[in-house]
Amino acid sequence: LAFTADRLLLFGATGDLSQRMLLPSLCALNSDGLLDQDLCIVCTARSEMSTHEFRNFAREALEKFLPKHRRGGMADFLNRLRYVPVDATTPEGYDKLAEEVGEYDGLAIFLSTAPSLFEPTISGLERVGLTRGNARIALEKPLGTDFDSSCEINDAVAKAFPEHRIFRIDHYLGKETVQNLLALRFANILFEPVWNSNYIEHVQITVAETVGLESRVAYYDDSGALRDMVQNHMLQLLALVAMEPPTSFDSTAVRDEKVKVLRALREVSQSEVVTGQYRAGAVDGKSVPGYDEELGKESDTETFVAVKAHVDNWRWRGVPFYLRHGKRLPERVTEIVIQFRCIPHSIFEGRGAVTQPNRLVIEIQPKENIQLSMMAKVPGLGREGLRLRPVPLDIAMPDAFSDTVRRIAYERLLLDLIEGDQTLFVRRDEVEAQWEWIDQIRALWAENDMKPKTYSAGSWGPSAAIALAERDGVTWHDD
Ligand code: BG6
Repeated sequence: LAFTADRLLLFGATGDLSQRMLLPSLCALNSDGLLDQDLCIVCTARSEMSTHEFRNFAREALEKFLPKHRRGGMADFLNRLRYVPVDATTPEGYDKLAEEVGEYDGLAIFLSTAPSLFEPTISGLERVGLTRGNARIALEKPLGTDFDSSCEINDAVAKAFPEHRIFRIDHYLGKETVQNLLALRFANILFEPVWNSNYIEHVQITVAETVGLESRVAYYDDSGALRDMVQNHMLQLLALVAMEPPTSFDSTAVRDEKVKVLRALREVSQSEVVTGQYRAGAVDGKSVPGYDEELGKESDTETFVAVKAHVDNWRWRGVPFYLRHGKRLPERVTEIVIQFRCIPHSIFEGRGAVTQPNRLVIEIQPKENIQLSMMAKVPGLGREGLRLRPVPLDIAMPDAFSDTVRRIAYERLLLDLIEGDQTLFVRRDEVEAQWEWIDQIRALWAENDMKPKTYSAGSWGPSAAIALAERDGVTWHDD
């Protein structure tokens, strides 16, 4: 598939993701000279408009969502865009679309539409020959709402595209710091020997957001925090932390190792999961309404979830992975905390000095830092007593690489799609293993009639989530 596409076909081109991420990312890539001169971008959505009108629409989106310093060459980018209105559910528009796409050597199709439109869109494309050759397709989440529905989507796509031409997006995999996890683990000799249950006591993965429902009321209330964030992004982070070293940085090798971790996830018991829903409170000093008020009705949808997960394999025996995600938490932060074990024997104890175990904190966003806490001696004379204190070894990625362009996830993912590299995309067996684990948790909630506990917006979730960790003597990392 190492074939660079000369056509990009974007469905859902007037949607929110397209305006915020896809068009700005493509424009930025174009400005940096990373899009082939021959690449033609055909955009489509249901709205009736001409190419000229769509270019105006795209210009507005770029002015709103792309920083000024990355807008060089915007006129050239807009000139690459073509627009064809297509109602995905009726056959008509597809002939016009095929005409606009014309002959291609490589076609990359991006479906940024509701999953209910995947099947009719793919049939429409198939009918007019736009799935032939090495056409490849990218799909945005949600890929189903449970294991069965995700299989239905995957089966429908598989009728027209073989797996090596299907690119399932999890935008967390496109984040620079997420990939840096792999560099940290596998480009350094320091960590791998201690990256196991002999030296690691537990792992925490937090994805905290300050936002509430935003404009996705219906989708979010049907989905909830577990399916919106844990099923995909958080399980991908867990897989990258826990996987065995792949033999190469190749899409099959990397994904083979991730799927083994996902399949090794143990069934969760009732005492290992807590859900919550926010009530009115204050975030960033501003009062915000509760979930019910934002939604306009009562609901049992969870906006917070904390789970104690276990990876049942040799490496991770007895190491809990505490996962926590919520909306309307006090700050926006995504981080992975690797808590190491205590040293086996302290030579300093006789002198009254206490040692604390090492801790590695990988902040994925917003700061992009890697911090290793190390014990050090507090300066002073012997007669003052020996004191030890943790000090951070701190790497701020943006400072370390201040001379490089920081790219958002979709720039990388779109380019990989165009160039046909699947490494950062999710394979079918991964999605299915993710859903199997999530379905088990949801079945547990249903069997036990579990309802989310309340928490005030601006807090770190329900107190039961704190208790979940504290029962094991663990404190969530909340700096
Ligand atoms: C999306 C979820 O997949 O990821 C949203 O649907 C969430 O609910 C978003 O806000 C978070 O992405 P990021 O890149 O801002 O961490």
